[in-house]
Amino acid sequence: MHEKERIHGGNVYEVAEQYGLNIEDILDFSASVSPLGVPEVVLEALKNSLGTVVHYPDPNCLAFRQAVAAELGISSENILAGNGAAELIYLIVQMVLPRCTVIPIPTFSEYEYAVSSVGGNLKYIQLQAEGLNFSISIDDFCKSLRGADLAFICNPNNPTATLFTRNELQKILEAGNANHCLIVVDEAYLDFVQGGSDYSLVNQILDYDNLLILKSLTKIYSLPGLRIGYAIGNKDLINKMNNLRDPWSVNSLAQAAGVAALSEKDYRTRLQELVWKERQYLYEEIKQLPGLRPYFPTANFMLVNTHAAGITAIYLHEILARTGLLIRDCTSFNGMGSYFFRIAVRKHSENMRLIQALDSALQQESGVG
Ligand SMILES: Cc1ncc(COP(=O)(O)O)c(C=O)c1O
Repeated sequence: MHEKERIHGGNVYEVAEQYGLNIEDILDFSASVSPLGVPEVVLEALKNSLGTVVHYPDPNCLAFRQAVAAELGISSENILAGNGAAELIYLIVQMVLPRCTVIPIPTFSEYEYAVSSVGGNLKYIQLQAEGLNFSISIDDFCKSLRGADLAFICNPNNPTATLFTRNELQKILEAGNANHCLIVVDEAYLDFVQGGSDYSLVNQILDYDNLLILKSLTKIYSLPGLRIGYAIGNKDLINKMNNLRDPWSVNSLAQAAGVAALSEKDYRTRLQELVWKERQYLYEEIKQLPGLRPYFPTANFMLVNTHAAGITAIYLHEILARTGLLIRDCTSFNGMGSYFFRIAVRKHSENMRLIQALDSALQQESGVG
């Protein structure tokens, strides 16, 4: 079988090696992670928990699940902790062993990789770029669920920032129900959406037997190297997934960090305010750069089309990487083509540096300066 290369943003190790850079000197816009660093309370919890590594971690992740349950107002029986949301995507496909999975594209590649890892077939629904958005016909999506046993929807969608309303998702869930199809809604970036809770299905979890929601703490609390996320669903689904997992996949430090992070409301508010202000700055600035077309960012990342500038995303990535700036060339996203890159929203001084670097890369290309 032909194996696809698994490409992601945030691979600072590879870039450091390739361009002879120190990892600390790389400014990473390719992974959509909080630019505020790890919250103080989380660092404190990590230090205080170092001694616990002499024991196996709690296989039930009880304190973490209880903290999530209190935060969301649901039962801990509906929550399964994972070594990042990524582990849970693989557990879902192991549980369903899908014959046919519906995936809107372009989207987060791990859905496809996970389905392929168990030999499942994929049915792609192409998001259509119109105006400033990538969108999908919900009716077509619902029809596509005929004969499918699994579907993934990323809300907001990485990398297009497409947002699905609760109403649209409920239509999809009803269609999924009629077709015995499990619908996975990945809310990994929903905390970065203004009024995000209006789009969340967390309060609908008991209304649908065919719904699983994914959440991640790695983006909002800047913990991608520690790994922690969770799934929410009905008790049966959660128990089935639990029985498939490595009981100790979520290490003690990640569990302690998760509990501490959830207690920290101030950091989240500061981060959201920063992201909402800075994404507008980036959007307005990039709009002014010749040949670049930004798509309106609904979360903490923004997709940009380079076609009118006459340069591919891989080329731009290359020029910027040499200066220690990392953007996500989106060529590897299925259904995306060669002219899109994605950037994370970072702090103002960092965003300014990116705008200047993009500007001079474009000038170099057009032979000006
Ligand atoms: C949409 C989406 N879901 C899930 C993940 C994985 O998150 P985690 O770090 O919690 O495994 C990512 C990571 O980039 C993502 O983009």
